Amino acid sequence: MERVRIRVDPAYDVMIGPGLINRAGELIAGVHAPCRAAVLTDDTVAALYGQKVLNSLKEAGFDPCLWAFPHGEEHKTMQTLASALNFLAESKLSRGDLAVALGGGVAGDLAGFAAAVYCRGIPFVQIPTTLLAAVDSSVGGKTAVDLPAGKNMAGAFHQPLLVLSDTDVIRALPPDLIRDGSAEMLKHGILADPKLFDDLRTGKWRERIDETIARNVEIKRDHVARDELDRGVRQMLNLGHTFGHAAETCSGFTLTHGQGVAMGLVMAARAAGMDPTPIEAACRKCGLPTACPYPAAELARAALSDKKRRGDRITLVLPEAIGKCALKTVPAAELPAIFARATGETI
Ligand code: GLY
Repeated sequence: MERVRIRVDPAYDVMIGPGLINRAGELIAGVHAPCRAAVLTDDTVAALYGQKVLNSLKEAGFDPCLWAFPHGEEHKTMQTLASALNFLAESKLSRGDLAVALGGGVAGDLAGFAAAVYCRGIPFVQIPTTLLAAVDSSVGGKTAVDLPAGKNMAGAFHQPLLVLSDTDVIRALPPDLIRDGSAEMLKHGILADPKLFDDLRTGKWRERIDETIARNVEIKRDHVARDELDRGVRQMLNLGHTFGHAAETCSGFTLTHGQGVAMGLVMAARAAGMDPTPIEAACRKCGLPTACPYPAAELARAALSDKKRRGDRITLVLPEAIGKCALKTVPAAELPAIFARATGETI
């Protein structure tokens, strides 16, 4: 089993390995005394893994219950959050009890936010069941729901007590969920690790899934531990996201997050004046798109509503080479010209 320590206060472990779902109770008991434990998940994941997690918690002495919401980003709302909070109250969870976020990014973000605000905060554990959640969203304590005005517009920082990434679950994922997670892994490779990038470009990472997930978590750790609240170096983890989020918005969210990020990585390279060819090749190898079909002016308009904007300035992450990126804060008024460079349009 791989183990990565996230050195925030208090520090916690990310455990990565096969069979961890069946050992969830025993592993969680190592960080929290048995108590009432609410497993918060979506209907798809509940059907696949809900009973296993409940059984494992019971065996370890916990008194578990389970709540599932309909799967999909469209349910990551304040209304679903209110249902989760009501469930916690009706299930008589107190401040000494525990929430378990079981699922992909949507379940993890929503359950984490419920844990952050229920009784002004109860401890929680993340059990990510998608590659994207294992390498990115389950680590670092960002929790949120969407508002009509935009994705993740209401949220809180709330670090988990423990993250359990079961690699048997990751290996069983359908190809589209592997593709989506690959986009975030490419991001980490471009940010900080040419070898990781090369493993993704050649497909070799599939021979060492556990180590690859651990390497991604280490890269995330290195940013989160230095800047837990996202005011400085953690913003590097937004590489490809301002451009990619604009593409997602223009598509009316028919593009998946991974597809948007892949397009965003290519656009970020072009905007920075870097040859995007290696990134395009790696995206293709991972089954991800490279060309963004939306015009620069429309993308720039969408980027203006990005929550990463601070007043009339926005901080972009621009690659200089594979493994090296820099933050650059620009006036929002420059976005149309930057997007024109990013899409290869002439203005
Ligand atoms: N996913 C970017 C971050 O956690 O900061």
